[in-house]
Amino acid sequence: MNRFHVGLGVSGGIAAYKAVEVMRLLQKAGCEVSVAMTRHATEFVQPLTFRALTGGHVIVDDYDPANPDPIAHINFSQGIDLLLIVPATANIIGKFANGIADDFLSSTYLACTAPVMIAPAMNTTMWEQPATQRNIERLRADGVHFVEPVAGELACKTVGTGKLEDVENIVSQALGLLTAEAQRRGEERGTGAFPEKGVSIESNDPRRLGVSAVNDDLRDERILITVGGTREAIDPVRFISNHSSGKMGFALAEAARDRGAEVTVVAGVTTAEPPEGVRVLRGVSAEEMHTAVKGELERATVFVGAAAVADYAPVNAADAKIKKEGKEQLTLELKKTPDILAEVARNRTNGLLVVGFAAETNDVVGYARSKMEKKGLDMVVANDITREGAGFNSDTNIATILTRGGEAIDLPKMPKRELADRILDEIVKLR
Ligand code: CTP
Repeated sequence: MNRFHVGLGVSGGIAAYKAVEVMRLLQKAGCEVSVAMTRHATEFVQPLTFRALTGGHVIVDDYDPANPDPIAHINFSQGIDLLLIVPATANIIGKFANGIADDFLSSTYLACTAPVMIAPAMNTTMWEQPATQRNIERLRADGVHFVEPVAGELACKTVGTGKLEDVENIVSQALGLLTAEAQRRGEERGTGAFPEKGVSIESNDPRRLGVSAVNDDLRDERILITVGGTREAIDPVRFISNHSSGKMGFALAEAARDRGAEVTVVAGVTTAEPPEGVRVLRGVSAEEMHTAVKGELERATVFVGAAAVADYAPVNAADAKIKKEGKEQLTLELKKTPDILAEVARNRTNGLLVVGFAAETNDVVGYARSKMEKKGLDMVVANDITREGAGFNSDTNIATILTRGGEAIDLPKMPKRELADRILDEIVKLR
């Protein structure tokens, strides 16, 4: 089986050192990696580090006499399955967006026909600049994929958005894109095992997983599921969250996988382990989960909102730890988070089926039905979380399935894995 070949472009930011870890994880996943660096990137990490670990020449300058290939930017870009930029500065994003090719990496981008994925990292103000956002929008319109930066403490000691996404997540998304592209081209390509915790990209072919797909009635479906709870930052050490374990969402992912579906999970915070053989992306806050979902939606044929997304988040996460001295009371100002499920339903195209969950404490069916109408869903799985054996962290659930125009299906207490199959049965009927 052919291995994927990734061109890793490193531009000049403090996060350049993290590109070494990205390279290592890609290699561990079975990819061949060739590295190109901008001149500024070499101020942060020595090309020798990459050369020693890849065994290949690291190109910084086409005109360097030590460069073994006289038309390197063409040959480099033609031989790769993905151009992955980690980290991407505002400058390199600006060059890509505007067709400027004044160094090796920007020339490589212009000469590249492979998919491109960019993981930006920069100071919050630079990230939020209209010029940067304009360039990103332009690149998105050109078909470039982004692994958005996350909020956190930055090198400049401020807290805000601009921190490079976790390297595991970057690699997970890169491998997902490589696999999806290969599947689209009908190729049998592999990345090998990817054993990092919480991140797995593996074959969706149940036979390879040793699972017998007795019933493969979902083999034509690509199911996107949100799972777990979200965390909304109050300050760098505190957050608002909930008790969701992710068990129900992961049970659905596992059941759908066993029935032949291609499954992608966007997981918030979970205590349960994700099943093998499904793609797992992380989106810890409602905002991050929303971004990850938007990035995946185009391919999906079914969307299931199984996550317990926080309905409200602090208006402004404090930059520094909030101190209690002199404060007898503290008021947090909260704003509504994006309703991922409602937005997916509102913007759906191509017959996407949209399924939601409703955790209620009273008038369960009444509230669930009105949720289905208000959010424009095809199906709602409602449960009364006050009943024993239902709801958060339990291995069982007691649910009522409601479908548009259909009768309510009251189900007895059953393991979440069994309930997952009952939900999927109803999804199949809606097709
Ligand atoms: N959901 C979502 N994004 C949000 C909030 C909820 O995708 N910001 C999804 C959940 O994954 C779940 C469903 O919406 O599928 C739950 O609906 P929601 O309106 O959040 O239920 P409640 O929070 O219980 O609403 P309310 O408080 O009004 O009862």
